[in-house]
Amino acid sequence: MSYPYQIKSLKQYQEEYKKSVDAPEDFWATIANHFIWHRKWDQVLDWNFYEPTIEWFKGGKLNITENCLDRWVETQPNATAIIWEPNDPTEPHRTFTYKELHHKVCQFANVLKNNGATRGDRICIYMPMVPELTIAILACARIGAIHSVVFGGFSAQSIADRIQDAQCNIVLTADGGFRGNKSIPLKAVIDEALTTCPSVEKVIVLTRTSLPVSMIKGRDVWWEDEINKVEAQGNPMCKAEIMDAEDMLFILYTSGSTGKPKGVVHTCGGYMVWTNYTFVNVFQYQPGQIHFCTADIGWITGHSYIIYGPLSAGATSLMFEGIPTWPDAGRFWEIVDKHAVDILYTAPTAIRSLMSFGTDPIKEKKLHSLKVLGTVGEPINEEAWHWYDEHIGKRNCPIVDTWWQTETGGVLISNLAGITKAKPSFATLPLPGIQPILVDENGKKIEGNGVSGNLCIQFPWPGMLRTTFGDHERCRTTYFSTYENLYFTGDGCLRDNEGDYRITGRVDDVLNVSGHRIGTAEVENAINMHTGVVESAIVGYPHDIKGQGIYAYVIFNGIHIDENQTRLDICQTVSKIIGAIAKPDKIQFVTGLPKTRSGKIMRRILRKIAEGELNNLGDTSTLLDPLVVEEIKSNKL
Ligand code: WTA
Repeated sequence: MSYPYQIKSLKQYQEEYKKSVDAPEDFWATIANHFIWHRKWDQVLDWNFYEPTIEWFKGGKLNITENCLDRWVETQPNATAIIWEPNDPTEPHRTFTYKELHHKVCQFANVLKNNGATRGDRICIYMPMVPELTIAILACARIGAIHSVVFGGFSAQSIADRIQDAQCNIVLTADGGFRGNKSIPLKAVIDEALTTCPSVEKVIVLTRTSLPVSMIKGRDVWWEDEINKVEAQGNPMCKAEIMDAEDMLFILYTSGSTGKPKGVVHTCGGYMVWTNYTFVNVFQYQPGQIHFCTADIGWITGHSYIIYGPLSAGATSLMFEGIPTWPDAGRFWEIVDKHAVDILYTAPTAIRSLMSFGTDPIKEKKLHSLKVLGTVGEPINEEAWHWYDEHIGKRNCPIVDTWWQTETGGVLISNLAGITKAKPSFATLPLPGIQPILVDENGKKIEGNGVSGNLCIQFPWPGMLRTTFGDHERCRTTYFSTYENLYFTGDGCLRDNEGDYRITGRVDDVLNVSGHRIGTAEVENAINMHTGVVESAIVGYPHDIKGQGIYAYVIFNGIHIDENQTRLDICQTVSKIIGAIAKPDKIQFVTGLPKTRSGKIMRRILRKIAEGELNNLGDTSTLLDPLVVEEIKSNKL
């Protein structure tokens, strides 16, 4: 097996890039021809960024799971598709060949059908990082149901919002999940969520932790029992549903600058081509290599680079149930040695956290198998980059700094491992098909090098989002209306004198905490749910490990017992409404917030104070009550 579209030199990158801009349709048709289609497309691309309408491989028919499974069952049935490493290192790991994974996916697809699932249904998946999660996702895709995976750290309320928005009729979950020394009661959280979700008719529950759970008659069934039923029916195969290229493959909710998360929609054809193309090129994957992406499948990185990218390339993908610091801070490195991992793809926040343990946890580890390292999710600071390079890569592994978003489906800006040059803290160059441009606040294009601006993309690529579920207008206003005829990323960006791109962080009201996207409005809404809170404002501040921490300014009418107790109560409220990932790191009680005369909170000032830049607040004369700033400054945490 080889990948004819894998770029092999800098010169070839430049040629391919040029082709992708000069003749995008020919370029992508050539690549799409390497996949299994039931019918080829009538038109490669139809688009406008006004409505927006984005259609790739229009009229094409396929099933993504035939590209991820069936074609490899034919050519390499005994190649390993998935290696699963459990949370507890003393529990045996599990592996699945392509043949086995295909069998399991068909089996579970039949379970879904037996439970009433049909094409177009939305199925919510709230599961731990076990192989059955991958099986569940692919089984949905097999029968043309749309999966909506919700990260296991989200609260009942967050799940309920997502289930209601997508009107899911089935939920797939487990009794619980293991993470480090904790066991998380997933089913209990689902039970709470479902009290407000009348659309859900069936819940299929996997046994993982054997925690006691409630099982509601008529609604809840055990995963294992349902598998037994399918086996008893004696039909282990499940024909793949033939989908249109533009049919929805999945919904994944992500935070934006308003209070309500958006359901980003990806479709079958374009997403498949994009995740595969970027996987093969960015990581320079070679057949037989072991690819370890440490993300959780609850986020886009797991969807694209644990499941769809690697499996559509016939690769071996390692999925890990646990966390980097349990039972100790050497766990990643132990896994790398144990399974002879070739490619390690992780987040800067994990690197910084492991850095803080020093090099002791690495001392006994060989790390000889590693060939390529990657990072994703947030800007990587130079110190962390060099530590990763020196202590993990032994200065022998190219590091790819991959910039992308839930909305982009796969990597848009990154060096290609060992092919194009790496530059610490720079994502460097766009992939073929990606036309980045920088614009100033008024939407004017900024030409030349050595400039900064807001990052936009001016031409569609196959993996881009198509809509936000149930609310196309929201998709238009969020991404396509800020700057005419451009996709706006929400990120600020520098293009240096050599033309390399460096992402500097969000320019909207979105925080990036430990690589997780969190909307300030969402956190404010959650804090405001606490009985004593009158009003609140959230900003990010630099945090050594998390990248950004959450700083909350809260107006509170009467402290219950004492301030610290109230802080804990507020954190508990946020955990309940959103999930523990959104808990504020610092809560400062204030008597007022700096507002303009029109009532708008001046976050710029609050951000400066949280960052400790007390003497550089800029113009405060337009404030309704400038004195409040003095009070906030003097009580800064
Ligand atoms: C940020 C994650 C700098 C960025 C795949 C983006 C990055 C947001 C990088 C998307 C990177 C992601 N360098 N910043 N290499 N990768 N980001 O949707 O702000 O969870 O807009 O997708 O993460 O986060 P999301």
